[in-house]
Amino acid sequence: MKSGQAWRPGMKDTQPVPRQRNHIRKPTWIIILVSLVCVFLVCAYVYPPQNSPACYVFSSNGCKALQKWHPPSPARELTDDEIASRVVIRDILNMPPVVSRRPKIAFLFLTPGPLPFEKLWDKFFQGHEDRFTVYVHASKDKPVHFSRYFINREIRSDKVEWGKISMVDAERRLLANALKDPFNQHFVLLSDSCIPLRDFDFVYNYLMYTNVSFIDCFEDPGVHGSGRYSEHMLPEVEKKIFRKGSQWFTMKRQHAIIVMADSLYYTKFRDYCRPGMEKGRNCYSDEHYLPTFFHMLDPSGISNWSVTHVDWSEGKWHPRSYRAQDISFELMRNITSVTESVHVTSEEVKRTRLTPCIWKGRRRVCYLFGRKFLPETLDILLQLFPKYTSI
Ligand SMILES: *[C@@H]1O[C@H](CO)[C@@H](O)[C@H](O)[C@H]1NC(C)=O
Ligand SMILES: *[C@@H]1O[C@H](CO)[C@@H](O)[C@H](O)[C@H]1NC(C)=O
Ligand SMILES: *[C@@H]1O[C@H](CO)[C@@H](O)[C@H](O)[C@H]1NC(C)=O
Repeated sequence: MKSGQAWRPGMKDTQPVPRQRNHIRKPTWIIILVSLVCVFLVCAYVYPPQNSPACYVFSSNGCKALQKWHPPSPARELTDDEIASRVVIRDILNMPPVVSRRPKIAFLFLTPGPLPFEKLWDKFFQGHEDRFTVYVHASKDKPVHFSRYFINREIRSDKVEWGKISMVDAERRLLANALKDPFNQHFVLLSDSCIPLRDFDFVYNYLMYTNVSFIDCFEDPGVHGSGRYSEHMLPEVEKKIFRKGSQWFTMKRQHAIIVMADSLYYTKFRDYCRPGMEKGRNCYSDEHYLPTFFHMLDPSGISNWSVTHVDWSEGKWHPRSYRAQDISFELMRNITSVTESVHVTSEEVKRTRLTPCIWKGRRRVCYLFGRKFLPETLDILLQLFPKYTSI
């Protein structure tokens, strides 16, 4: 806006306005203006605009171009481990994806025991046998299965403690097992309370025909965001790049491989982002490791929202759990028609940020799966299933 005002007197000058007591002659005005513009451009080059107000001055393309000249590497000198880590990750990301003739989606179920929605998933998978694989990490009790798609699909598991690094370990174990099959091209993490919101074809096309991973990521300056950061993570993880997000991801194969390849950032989070780290402060790696990792290393390769819906609108410590009496066609229609993602920060005055869900340049629905459905909702969901997924 400032630059717009600065131009106006210059433009007026070109009109034959009678000059009154103006001691500065025209050429001087032009020289001052040109110098100001030059200084402005040099500043913009040296300090590229990072956030939107400055971006309005340039076109959005101008902003992108400026960011390209300044790749997101820290200004300090990288450590040996960081250099090693970054060359490996850069080369994996620059490799063209392997084109396989029958690409599949790996559905990774992270559960303490039985999967109450197996019957629903069975309906979802039916008829698409050559386009998916199921993996189950049951950390407490070995489930008894009802669906042929789940029988003998358990991987070797280990104990998982809520909020601890063992949660991330289980996610990595699922990814590693699923990566063994070269036909798996996209990886979806799901819990025992998750249900499908769409039919198989919709989910398959949504995930396969884009090259981003749907990993949730946002900046929360509040106590449950940056407030969990510990300076022990320096120098590799700076506070300003520390991010938060729901753990329920979908990931393309390249991204799953860089998660396998990472030990540097994983170790930082394992050691310094855990419950009870410092007096009265908790950090949960499953909510911070992957969002921060991808924000640092491939920010434009992730969607920044999770395709797994959950309802935080009650503002409690835990999201809403859907009971049988809550389920109706109208509720399902409401959830499946959402086209903007919601992020709420945890500052004293909470801020809510709505972001349109953009899929291949177009605004689309955000969610493919839903979470925190109690087992008692199974029957009514089975009744509604083929109808609500095709809204
Ligand atoms: C996700 O956010 C990062 C910056 O925070 C941005 O660079 C990137 O373009 C975003 N991803 C998409 C798909 O918009
Ligand atoms: C995604 O694919 C398109 C072509 O389909 C390409 O132009 C774009 O650079 C790719 N983006 C990433 C992050 O790989
Ligand atoms: C669905 O959305 C409408 C409009 O936002 C709202 O009035 C209604 O209460 C919602 N219904 C359910 C069951 O959530």
